[in-house]
Amino acid sequence: MPGESICYLNGEFLPLLEANVSVLDRGFIFGDGIYEMIPSFAGHTFRLKEHLQRLINSLDAVHINNPHSLSEWSDLIKELVDKNDANHQAIYLQITRGVAHRDHAFPEESEPTIFIMSNPLPESQKAKPVSAAVIPDPRWNSCDIKAISLLPNVLLRHQAREKGAYEAILIRDGYLTEGAASNVFIAKDGVVKTPPKGPKLLPGITRNLLVELLQKNDIPCEETEITESEVRNADEIWLTSSTKEIVPVIELDNKKVGDGEAGEIWHRSVDLYQSFKDTFTGA
Ligand code: PDD
Repeated sequence: MPGESICYLNGEFLPLLEANVSVLDRGFIFGDGIYEMIPSFAGHTFRLKEHLQRLINSLDAVHINNPHSLSEWSDLIKELVDKNDANHQAIYLQITRGVAHRDHAFPEESEPTIFIMSNPLPESQKAKPVSAAVIPDPRWNSCDIKAISLLPNVLLRHQAREKGAYEAILIRDGYLTEGAASNVFIAKDGVVKTPPKGPKLLPGITRNLLVELLQKNDIPCEETEITESEVRNADEIWLTSSTKEIVPVIELDNKKVGDGEAGEIWHRSVDLYQSFKDTFTGA
């Protein structure tokens, strides 16, 4: 039961179902806040430094004062991991602008609301192949902020599901941006490509690590603009995220991607990613 997990809310560790926030919280009223999703494997938080740096970037971008130092964040997260039983966990950390009477303008004084919860991650992270649908990306120009106001992403994922697909692959002005809750890679003729970082997509921690690992291991990988037709003609397509890692897309708009099976470069990428994780977690 999710309610049996332990969460952290504003200075206190408590059972998830006992945690409550005010209806005047600006996170509830305006979606005025930011978040992170940090995986923890066998008690080791993965890429914590990178996640905390992105958290700080998001806080700065929305002008919420960072309530904790890096070492305080790290201690809080580690304590929460220890208080929960699952071997692998997804740590969700949300900070909102806090409780205030409803007014679009920032309140003169408010304490940020800090909420952290843990959800179990499956023992085996080896992703199953999925299908995707190409959908126009209607979002704003600050998609690099990990904002909790996710209505566009929720609606995009729903559009994909209505088409019978697992994930939306988003196209803006003819170019690939990302998924509704993932980054996207393609491979063609042995070359891997993913869109460059910028305001149109989230700088995924998994994405960044995968680019680094591919380049270090002499698998050609470019951060470059990708047209819709390149996506549709790719040999391989993958989605990346901290909770799902590297997921092969084998069907796009009901047509096979490549030969309709997880591709050869995907297998190599997953092996590189897993061995990096194993050295990190001491497995
Ligand atoms: N989402 N792009 C979007 C829009 C995302 O929501 C996510 C992850 C990513 C991948 O980022 P990372 O590799 O840092 O997880 C890209 C998380 C997992 C979520 O909202 O649940």
